[in-house]
Amino acid sequence: MFAKASVALFPALIPLLSFWIARRSDQVFRVTRDSWEKEYDYIIVGAGSAGSVLANRLSEDPRVKVLLLEAGGSENIISDIPIAYQMLQHTPMDWSYLTEPQESSCFGLKDKRSRWPRGRVLGGSSVINVMLYVRGNRLDYEQWVRNGAVGWSWEEVFPYFLKAEDNRDANIAYNGYHGRGGPLTVQSSPYLSPLGAAWPAAGHILGYKFVDVNGPSQTGFTIPQGTIRRGARCSTAKAYLLPAKNRPNLHVIAFAYVTRIIFNEIKRAVAVQFDRFSLSYLVYARREIIVSGGSINSPQLLMISGIGPAQHLKDHGIPIIADLPVGENLQDHIYPGGMTFSINAKVSLSQDRVFNAANLGKYFTKGTGPLTSLGGVEGLAFIKTGRANQSIDWPDIEMHFVTGNVVADGGKGLIGLTGLSPDIWNRVFLPYSPLDTFTIDPVLLRPKSRGYIRLRSANPYDHPIIDPKYLSDPDDVLTIVEAMKIALAIGLSPPMKAFGAKLIETVFPGCEYYVYLSDEYLACVARVFTSTIYHPVGTCKMGSPWDPTAVVDSELKVMGGVTGLRVIDASVMPTIISGNTNAPTIMIAERGADLIKGQLLPPLPSPIIPQYPILGR
Ligand SMILES: Cc1cc2nc3c(=O)[nH]c(=O)nc-3n(C[C@H](O)[C@H](O)[C@H](O)COP(=O)(O)OP(=O)(O)OC[C@H]3O[C@@H](n4cnc5c(N)ncnc54)[C@H](O)[C@@H]3O)c2cc1C
Ligand SMILES: *[C@@H]1O[C@H](CO)[C@@H](O)[C@H](O)[C@H]1NC(C)=O
Repeated sequence: MFAKASVALFPALIPLLSFWIARRSDQVFRVTRDSWEKEYDYIIVGAGSAGSVLANRLSEDPRVKVLLLEAGGSENIISDIPIAYQMLQHTPMDWSYLTEPQESSCFGLKDKRSRWPRGRVLGGSSVINVMLYVRGNRLDYEQWVRNGAVGWSWEEVFPYFLKAEDNRDANIAYNGYHGRGGPLTVQSSPYLSPLGAAWPAAGHILGYKFVDVNGPSQTGFTIPQGTIRRGARCSTAKAYLLPAKNRPNLHVIAFAYVTRIIFNEIKRAVAVQFDRFSLSYLVYARREIIVSGGSINSPQLLMISGIGPAQHLKDHGIPIIADLPVGENLQDHIYPGGMTFSINAKVSLSQDRVFNAANLGKYFTKGTGPLTSLGGVEGLAFIKTGRANQSIDWPDIEMHFVTGNVVADGGKGLIGLTGLSPDIWNRVFLPYSPLDTFTIDPVLLRPKSRGYIRLRSANPYDHPIIDPKYLSDPDDVLTIVEAMKIALAIGLSPPMKAFGAKLIETVFPGCEYYVYLSDEYLACVARVFTSTIYHPVGTCKMGSPWDPTAVVDSELKVMGGVTGLRVIDASVMPTIISGNTNAPTIMIAERGADLIKGQLLPPLPSPIIPQYPILGR
């Protein structure tokens, strides 16, 4: 009787369900079109974190015609769900890159390769990321300036963080360090698990303050803010492309893969060639071409088009337009996996418990519940190891507190995401699978190791060679070992012990030779389970015209005698910033747009000058 009634009821529910789903997904796909013109003022390659910002800002002037070309399609209702970010990897939304086998790291990963997801979708990696909103440290930007990036000091970039931002957490939005009314919605997840709620207490006991990590002092513990809106992901496509969708002077073309930039006889970039559904097209740029393909694709496209290290291009038979160190200076953020703790309470964000009807209902109707968790990262901490300068606020480690349960899913998460070998999973993690867990990921913020992107071939459809050379600088290992000890102290602090927290005890395969938990043992774990936190930058380095390692100048223009061409995305960072890279990339694009328009915002000092030394740690 009841079953019959619910079957009869179901068709009636469909319109209601579709209403909620449509309301949630914001229908981003409507921004694209299928026709275009022969010529534009600006052509932007790639609609990622940076490209979407540029498309919006440049098309604010109705006299200017802008074309935005994106290799991927649109976001969907799954990519909107904040906790579901893992599900987007190895789908058509992901370039699914793999690094070369590593020589000093990744020993426990399949073929010693690190998996590198990158967004191939309107919104780029801002559609598949964990949404953490972190700007980095003011001293990072001072360091850029010291290295020749004129105009990128903290006072000069701060107004652009504010311009992008619409901060909606009342306790943070009005503290003087945040913007309101900008396109990018920033707020904390409406949901906090009991574990997440205990994070600040763990910090307090160890002597750290609870801070706004984007405020006066970065050092301390926090509950993170993320780029979410009404509990759903706020990608740059949603923030910047959707509001511009009715502008007649902005044409957004999805599924358009740019295969070459074309130069005239005086090395001016004049056109791009792109493939769309097996056909090839040319479009011309009257003013400029802007490459925003991200840290892997931007250097690849430049090299295929003749801009790169001369000998490397010769080896691939590519005619040389400019001899520049494109693809060098690759930097990324890594952490040692394995700082996982078992607990005796059923409080972690375990997949089987999170994805149930009640939680889906909460998410779709109210934008609340555990599905709004920022990829299961419920706490952040910026800390200084003993190897950092103790007298300044420039932490060298960022802890990510992951309350998603990494053992309950039979390895799907860790194996799928990090590429951990199933053998190691079975030995280290499987014995704990009936238990709940949390994990602390200590991320090395300013690695010294440098890698590179090179062409595998001149064919744009071949993935480039990615070699981050993780842990090739021994200093990096020393800092990570110190950070692992602090992670242990946090994981075993009384607020965590209240949940019965215990470090998972299986000795990592390959590390049996060392005394358990000695420095040598921890270093071994770091080299066995080396994990990326997905922040590759630096491959089209910004610097002064006299810097032989620089590719673009401080106005983000490609050097080497080329005109009409800029690179604007994460690849221009001279050194990686001390934090997650999405907000800084959006800032770079906001400022880049104003550089193109020739009207910069005036520098703005932070409201309170931080006092040195910062108390606490
Ligand atoms: C899994 C994951 C989690 C992350 N978590 C966080 C986080 O929590 N917080 C944070 O701050 N950062 C995070 N990041 C990093 C952050 O998302 C990136 O640093 C940022 O999105 C980089 O922006 P971008 O504009 O340089 O490149 P992207 O956003 O990757 O954009 C590049 C775009 O260009 C397109 N494209 C490339 N080549 C071509 C071509 N030839 N023709 C046409 N289109 C092309 C691509 O398809 C893509 O859409 C994460 C990244 C990943 C992958
Ligand atoms: C630490 O930073 C201060 C302030 O910038 C500087 O004067 C000092 O030399 C630094 N110390 C070390 C050991 O680098």
